Amino acid sequence: MSRPLAVICLAAGLGKRTKVSLPKVLLPLCGRTLVASALAAVAPLQPQRTVVVLSHQKDKVQKAVQEACGGMFARLDFVDQGAPRGTGHAVQAAMQALADFHGDVLITYGDCPLITTATLRDLRELRGSAPASVLTAVADDPEGLGRILRDDDGRFVGIREHKDCSEEELAIDEINAGFYCFDSDALRPALANLKPNNKQGELYLTDAVEALAKKREVPTLEAEDADEITGVNTLADLSVARARMQERILLEHLDNGVIVVDPITTWIDHGVQIGADTRILPATVIGAGCVIGRNCEVGPFAHLRAGTVLEDGAEIGNFVEAKKTHVGAGAKAKHLTYLGDATIGARANIGAGTITANYDGVHKHATKIGAGAFIGSGSVLVAPTEVGEEALTGAGAVVTRGTVIAPREVWVGVPARRLKVREVPPAKEKA
Ligand code: UD1
Ligand code: CA
Repeated sequence: MSRPLAVICLAAGLGKRTKVSLPKVLLPLCGRTLVASALAAVAPLQPQRTVVVLSHQKDKVQKAVQEACGGMFARLDFVDQGAPRGTGHAVQAAMQALADFHGDVLITYGDCPLITTATLRDLRELRGSAPASVLTAVADDPEGLGRILRDDDGRFVGIREHKDCSEEELAIDEINAGFYCFDSDALRPALANLKPNNKQGELYLTDAVEALAKKREVPTLEAEDADEITGVNTLADLSVARARMQERILLEHLDNGVIVVDPITTWIDHGVQIGADTRILPATVIGAGCVIGRNCEVGPFAHLRAGTVLEDGAEIGNFVEAKKTHVGAGAKAKHLTYLGDATIGARANIGAGTITANYDGVHKHATKIGAGAFIGSGSVLVAPTEVGEEALTGAGAVVTRGTVIAPREVWVGVPARRLKVREVPPAKEKA
């Protein structure tokens, strides 16, 4: 589509109903904040301009959004709405930042993380030459939402807010999702004419849509999946949205040939790469930014945190946590282990109960384990520390801080001391 696109993301709400101190739009959902999820859905449409409307805890929200989403957009701006006086007021504030913009204006919400790119693209295309297009949904429970009003021929004529509805209107189950695509040049005069003459004394964006529909037909798009438009108002809503988002992420991995044995107990954040033929066993948690190769095995009960990379064929087993750790091809840590800030060479074997003690109370330090090394059960490697290629630590060894174990050396005891050099490494480790 050749028309320029601007996106306005409304994120000024107080979010009182969550009862937590974090601004609502910064609540986490599968490794992203709510508002970052909403913005990630519009990013593929490549808007020329993106404006986020803020008010409550605006500095904190702006910083977080800038960090997470700055790179997604050609231009990302923030507008302070001041005291929120309704959705129309919020869009007025955003349009001041878009004074020289002419084209499509797509409205989204910082608390609606499940909207999809496909739906927003369809909504935009539907507008054609109309002044606006409106996303609707049929709701099981329309409580609190604006109702779509239609004339006898089924043509859209307006939106009535729940609080302003008559008995008859309350029975309508087609609701306003709150997403629209406007022609910027039609939107401006409609916004200028908004009046707060309603039960809430707010400036309703919906009144602008209604005014436009009086002049020209406004097309509507019914969301195929009503979940897409559900807003998060409470922590209970958040947990429902999380499950829905998780399902989408897992389906994508399954589609790519990743064997997720038990999707119900598997948590995988956004932005995780996993190669085909890798098996993810039950009760596994994989954080944003992990990269997992092909033919790996992870879990059951494994926790991979940000910055962890597993090369092809690596295995991370029961009750193993890895953070910012690079695990070489075919290396194994199968039981009860913590690997933090570690680099592990190919085919190394990390015995049960191994701990990389990476934190001295002030700083984090690195551990390096060479290819083919054998770390005996219950070893503690106090970082910074280095274990050479094909070296070995005995069961229960405590390798103290600053130690460098040369290739093929055998170290044992507490504190660990050099015992001998390994004669011939076991054949299977030679590869
Ligand atoms: C709005 C629609 C309603 C629709 C519903 C869908 C209006 C008047 N009503 O309801 O028809 O069914 O969304 O969820 O538009 N916000 C601001 N500044 C404000 C007010 C709101 O940024 O001054 C943001 C909120 O943070 C939220 C979004 O806009 O992300 C929607 O606001 P909310 O109060 O939840 O929606 P309603 O106005 O009740
Ligand atoms: Ca409101």
